Amino acid sequence: MENLNVPQHIAIIMDGNGRWAKNKNLSVKLGHKAGADALKKISRTAYDLGVKYLSVYAFSTENWKRSDSEVKDLMQLFSNYFDALTKNCGKNDLKVKCIGNIFGLPEDLQKKISKIEEMTKDKDGMNFIIAINYGAHDEILRAVKNICNQVLTNKFLPSQLTEDFFASFLDTKNIPNPDLLIRTAGEMRLSNFLLWQLAYSEFYFSDKFWPDFSEQDLLDAIKNFSARKRRFGTR
Ligand code: FPP
Repeated sequence: MENLNVPQHIAIIMDGNGRWAKNKNLSVKLGHKAGADALKKISRTAYDLGVKYLSVYAFSTENWKRSDSEVKDLMQLFSNYFDALTKNCGKNDLKVKCIGNIFGLPEDLQKKISKIEEMTKDKDGMNFIIAINYGAHDEILRAVKNICNQVLTNKFLPSQLTEDFFASFLDTKNIPNPDLLIRTAGEMRLSNFLLWQLAYSEFYFSDKFWPDFSEQDLLDAIKNFSARKRRFGTR
């Protein structure tokens, strides 16, 4: 496509499943199901456009505060989603990685995550990064604890800590920072998503609820991004 500067890395906060369902008099569970269907479609489009990294916020460290039944339904949805990714992984070259506090998830989900990550580790197509039980504060704290332990055991000195070295302790180690962040459903906040990594990203907000976010909406976001001038603090 002409003049389209496709971002290397797109991050998405998929918001609005609940409101989408409420507007249609449907259960929140069906809203999340529709959200998962939208994700399948959008990840395919991103892949077709040549996006190299797609990161999506599936479940935050704060989402445990939702009702037991909503949390249970989401875990079941994730479980089914990982099954489908595993089943289809022979047919595509997606490299799947989960970021977040994976050890805080139900054990069967942890196993499914390890399995899909292992099965796709040598793939060289799009990197599909799923943030699950993820919070940037939690990620940064885990990194700091790790670094403190290494300093305590004399692996390196605090003076040797650079930005790049610090970033190598984050869950996103070896993943370039997002170029474009998209958030749906009209909310304009980061909600504890990739706080370190989004320092110089371009932001794009859509009023559409996530289940309604279409291929065309993704293209519109990319067209908008293409017209931006990124300066990274320079003139
Ligand atoms: C926010 O909408 C969405 C979530 C908390 C869950 C995101 C999960 C999906 C999109 C399901 C698919 C993901 C995977 C990886 C299978 P909300 O419920 O907070 O919406 P609301 O603000 O309108 O209530």
